[in-house]
Amino acid sequence: MSTHIGAQAGDIAPVVLMPGDPLRAKWIAETFLEDARCYTEVRGMLGFTGTWRGQRVSVQGSGMGQPSLAIYVNELFREYDVRSIIRVGSCGALTEDVAIRDVILASGACTDSSMNTHRFGGYDYAPVADFGLLSRAYAAAQAMPDVTTHVGLIMSSDSFYSPRPELMEPMVKHGVLAVEMEASALYTLAAEHGGQALCVCTVSDHIVTGEETTSAEREQTFGAMIEIALTAALA
Ligand code: ADE
Repeated sequence: MSTHIGAQAGDIAPVVLMPGDPLRAKWIAETFLEDARCYTEVRGMLGFTGTWRGQRVSVQGSGMGQPSLAIYVNELFREYDVRSIIRVGSCGALTEDVAIRDVILASGACTDSSMNTHRFGGYDYAPVADFGLLSRAYAAAQAMPDVTTHVGLIMSSDSFYSPRPELMEPMVKHGVLAVEMEASALYTLAAEHGGQALCVCTVSDHIVTGEETTSAEREQTFGAMIEIALTAALA
């Protein structure tokens, strides 16, 4: 077992879906996987391995924010031979070009976090998605007539309740579509470890219009997103 994941070597599949919420991980395992088994309950951050269309896949909660996600992603790449991690989460839309319930495939992730400032000694690194995962996810999403999909930049913020929301304006002017809290660290760590990563988000709230999805809507759009992520990783 690693410091924060109570699994033995071989318990975790090379492909991992990663929601922020551990109870979402449980829901994904129960709804989409066959023969799912829980391999960790450490700190309540649940992880499961099962099969989807005959292929092994794991689902691991990350917690909220880049420092929490980085703990699990580091241990998955370093100690469990994980190859691909797809974050499946929610985001807030920053532009009226994007509507609630839409799906965003994050080609790259900007950030206000100091994690990469420290890592790169002040140089700006551009954390990007794996192109293979991204292009397969796009093809899967295009095959879903009820899903509107965008490919573009997102912002991984350290603050859900931002003290300076006006600082998002230049980001939006430079093409950033939505805000979430994890993708930038995921993409950076995948690059460090020679792995592949993608962040797929559904828009749960709209920062411009103030709209929010209901929990029933979130479950439905979340389901489409999981199908996209599983197809991109395993089909
Ligand atoms: N995830 C979903 N909505 C969000 C928001 N408004 N800010 C940051 N992360 C989010």
